Amino acid sequence: MNVLSPETVRELSERGYALTRPLSGPDEAAALASSLGTLVPQSTGELTYDIQAHPGFEKVRDTRSAHALRPHTEAPGQHPPPRYLALHCRVQATCGGGQTMLADARAFVAGMDERTRRFAHEREMYWPSYVEDAGVKGHHKPLVERTERGTINRLSCTLLRTGDYSEGLEERAGRQEPPLGDEGVAFARQALDFFRDHKVSVLIPEDAMLIWDNHRMFHSRSSFTDTRRRLTRYWIAD
Ligand SMILES: [Fe+2]
Repeated sequence: MNVLSPETVRELSERGYALTRPLSGPDEAAALASSLGTLVPQSTGELTYDIQAHPGFEKVRDTRSAHALRPHTEAPGQHPPPRYLALHCRVQATCGGGQTMLADARAFVAGMDERTRRFAHEREMYWPSYVEDAGVKGHHKPLVERTERGTINRLSCTLLRTGDYSEGLEERAGRQEPPLGDEGVAFARQALDFFRDHKVSVLIPEDAMLIWDNHRMFHSRSSFTDTRRRLTRYWIAD
């Protein structure tokens, strides 16, 4: 049956993420992901994205490197960003790292003081597109956007701190400024502290798929050394 179990659907709705049982293969993973909505093209233009460490990309803190990724939401430069993300584990890291980590932005916002909450809801910033193409623009949105269909949380601790989605590019010319200045840098610090204290860490079992609500959950990934690690990522619009 190519639909998610009622238990998985309930977990996804109640706590913002769920882990499936081991799946038979890519076809079942794609079918289950599709049962939540429409698969949308990712930065490569493809409906699936292979996550695998690439030798030679050690300096770039993106999905191709083995560095830890800082907390973020996926594709915040899209309007709306993909509602759900799904990671189907093809080869699990055996080095003790490579966990996917999640924390609930609702709890983060609920714990904010009034001034920070106003800042998060009212200060718009420019979220660039992941695609480095002059024809593809990002959007001006606040960190917490209220829409008719629900609240959309956006975060990139790296973007707030450095003005760029990727770190470790010190040598790159034309380094950006933090888009929301000192207040944005302080916000990123709060988000990092919240994430450190409230995250759940999931080492996705081989063949299983982790699904989360990308409008609600922040995610990151711990560093790893086992470069056999491989996952297939899906972006899903609902
Ligand atoms: Fe991500």
